[in-house]
Amino acid sequence: MAGGLGNDTLTFNLANLGLSGTSSGAGDGVDAISLTLSGLASQTIFVSGNAGTDTIICTALGNASPFGGQGVDSITANGAATTIVGGVCTPIQMIKSAPKMKQDNPKLNATSASLPPQGAIGVETLGHRQYVGGMWEEIGLLQFNFLKSQGIKPTDTFLDIACGALRLGVHLIPYLEKGHYLGIEKEQALINAGLKEELGESLAEEKEPILICDKDFSFDKFGRRIDMAIAQSLFTHLSPETIDQCMKNLKPCMNKNSVFFATYFESQSQAVIPSQSHDHGYFAYTKSQMLDFGNRMGFNAEYLGDWNHPRSQVMVAYRPRAEA
Ligand SMILES: C[S@@+](CC[C@H](N)C(=O)[O-])C[C@H]1O[C@@H](n2cnc3c(N)ncnc32)[C@H](O)[C@@H]1O
Repeated sequence: MAGGLGNDTLTFNLANLGLSGTSSGAGDGVDAISLTLSGLASQTIFVSGNAGTDTIICTALGNASPFGGQGVDSITANGAATTIVGGVCTPIQMIKSAPKMKQDNPKLNATSASLPPQGAIGVETLGHRQYVGGMWEEIGLLQFNFLKSQGIKPTDTFLDIACGALRLGVHLIPYLEKGHYLGIEKEQALINAGLKEELGESLAEEKEPILICDKDFSFDKFGRRIDMAIAQSLFTHLSPETIDQCMKNLKPCMNKNSVFFATYFESQSQAVIPSQSHDHGYFAYTKSQMLDFGNRMGFNAEYLGDWNHPRSQVMVAYRPRAEA
């Protein structure tokens, strides 16, 4: 840890740590681990993530694990012998020798090299569903039901920013009128998998979703005004600069009554790991930062907070501010 209390961040690769197991919580593998680094006062670190052998980002909160009773209760890691105490995750292996952690600035350890690959190789390695974070059905339906609760209509023109492999699209495309679902995504392999393996050819022909592969948020390529948009688990992977670019490009494509929903990890202070936007990184922002991303780009921001996301992402709504 970099000294001081809480809010420092470390990245651990669970495979390298020799951890595997089946969670008592949702999904496979280790969902939550509480780590206490000995010799570092009583810093407690908790992790939450996808699965046992994935890289999981750990954020030190400076308080006790909120996952008491689930998963591993405590790991003492001092760079040599590591002991796991308690926990109901099975089977958890004892770690014989934990990797040495840099005591000076462990954030330097969280480089893109320590994360799973991005791009086509990443999609091939992880599979398209896992690449976007798994929980396919749950998070797809969560988004669809949320949008319906916000009043989406079949006649609306909807933009799915970072649509991935159509986790939302498989529900929304059939619901919307033909040609009313627009999706933008930087990975062509995800779009392909979404069309072929998830949506299917006949629905694609019937509903004609418009899908663009682009990494620069070139929303003007659609040549359409957007009524409603969502970026689900996009800002959780983007640096502040990339978020600015997204918000800036979106505003001119919206109507005065349009709304854009974005999810994010809320934290007491910014966590940006690694320093550049990364599909498998961890980016958390404060509430005021999130409101400010919109305010600076001409939106009124409304904090919606909890929307039952299984990984506790929260929601904010941005509406274009009328120019004076
Ligand atoms: C966690 S996934 C979520 C995907 C989708 N929103 C969903 O709920 O299934 C994040 C997605 O953002 C995409 N992405 C990241 N940066 C992007 C960018 N600059 N432009 C477009 N897509 C981007 C990634 O390729 C990935 O598909």
